[in-house]
Amino acid sequence: MAKFIPVEPFDIVIFGGTGDLSRRKLLPALFHRFLDGQLDGTNKIIGAARAKLDRSEFVAMAKEACFAASQERQENKWNKFATLLDYIIIDTTDAGANWHGLKARLNTDERPVIYYMATTPYIYVDTCRALGKAGLNTSNARLVLEKPIGTDLASARAINDGVGEIFPENAIFRIDHYLGKETVQNLMVLRFANTLFEPLWSHNNVDHVQITVAEDIGLEGRAGYYDRSGAVRDMVQNHLLQLLCLTAMEPPNSLDADEIRTEKIKVLKALKGFDTNTVKSNTVRAQYTAGMDGDKPVSGYLDTLPADIKTSQTETFVAFKTEIKNWRWAGVPFYLRTGKRMASRHSEIVIQFKPTPHALFENARSEANRLVIRLQPDEGVRLYMQIKEPGPGGLRIKSLPLNLSYADNFSVRYPDAYERLLMDIVRGNLALFMRRDEVEAAWTWVDNLLTSWEGSGQPIETYAAGTQGPMQSAMLMDRDGRKWWESHL
Ligand code: BG6
Repeated sequence: MAKFIPVEPFDIVIFGGTGDLSRRKLLPALFHRFLDGQLDGTNKIIGAARAKLDRSEFVAMAKEACFAASQERQENKWNKFATLLDYIIIDTTDAGANWHGLKARLNTDERPVIYYMATTPYIYVDTCRALGKAGLNTSNARLVLEKPIGTDLASARAINDGVGEIFPENAIFRIDHYLGKETVQNLMVLRFANTLFEPLWSHNNVDHVQITVAEDIGLEGRAGYYDRSGAVRDMVQNHLLQLLCLTAMEPPNSLDADEIRTEKIKVLKALKGFDTNTVKSNTVRAQYTAGMDGDKPVSGYLDTLPADIKTSQTETFVAFKTEIKNWRWAGVPFYLRTGKRMASRHSEIVIQFKPTPHALFENARSEANRLVIRLQPDEGVRLYMQIKEPGPGGLRIKSLPLNLSYADNFSVRYPDAYERLLMDIVRGNLALFMRRDEVEAAWTWVDNLLTSWEGSGQPIETYAAGTQGPMQSAMLMDRDGRKWWESHL
């Protein structure tokens, strides 16, 4: 029996319907939900973009995208899904754009209609205004804003203000796809459905926390966007800070969206910032140079950029040490890092516990407990314990994991994060989406980091593609007598 919960019939309009996100994630996610029977077959899935395509060209593009992203490539199933697809040419900057044509293509009942902004954020507000003018901001409408929501606090506020004039806050879904990942959702279950961890989850027992999101890919054709963003805006402002919040927040009173979001904001507000001095000793920013991708040589960051931005100082790697200034976490360092073109793709959260108060086994080397939450790939949780190595010849202690591997325990296909999030949008469930004040609190912290860098004149370091990042990242830990946990090695 299918394990999914049915959703009511809905329509969706994807602005930027021919773009990268639509092709790689949104259309395949809708296709998979259709294959699992979650779409009732009356849905309208409308791509809206400037490209001069007709419907059949859009359907052909969508087919290529969905088949590339799916194991399921049956023509008969595709043909049924294709009947739901439609396309409309809309240039949101053009006052004469065909908004009424869009309205005419939607179902006329009271079903939820999702307006998904998969475009550059600069046109979010204008698009919403045009939707409002065409009378499409009805009470059943839901607006989805992709990241990045702005490039700093001021631009994020301008977007939030602008879209807020057209749609109420409870109809705005600010997406961070990390929150839709199975293992990220499991973070809350691990923390709040087990009694084991809560008494240990604080400065009393935790030595430090590490969060790593390492990618082996480079720019993937997104040089224009990426060079204006860099790792801090692209990954830290959203994904890494969200992981930090879920790791450190207090238990919410309930799973109500606002209860969860309020707890996350408290973490963001307690997050220690930098000044032009502390930023130098607590952060590292770097750019990759030529190196290897497995056994294949790859070019450096600057060589992949167009000629006019070849002197770019944009960071492709960042590592930093911060603290959460509250009762639970005071004094516990949180080390975070993310980078492109690193040795391998792996994301994990490491809770490093303190050593035992008294070293009873003086002559045997013993480590402190460590909880490793592996987000991707090889999803799972490992709790490292100290075990006596059997056999004669003295007491030897080994650190071995209790291994809770997803692959060993569940044989289901993990839905892509977007599948889960799209269905939550239809249900109107905001729990996995960011509230306005949450996005702005994250930008406040990021703006402080960026201006501290600017004021400090801190140089950008380099690292060879295919490595663990720059030497300075290892030194950030080394200075504190600690090491990054590299469990994939
Ligand atoms: C996106 C970033 O939000 O997340 C990309 O813009 C990054 O640069 C991607 O590659 C990583 O997501 P995932 O799901 O592959 O870890």
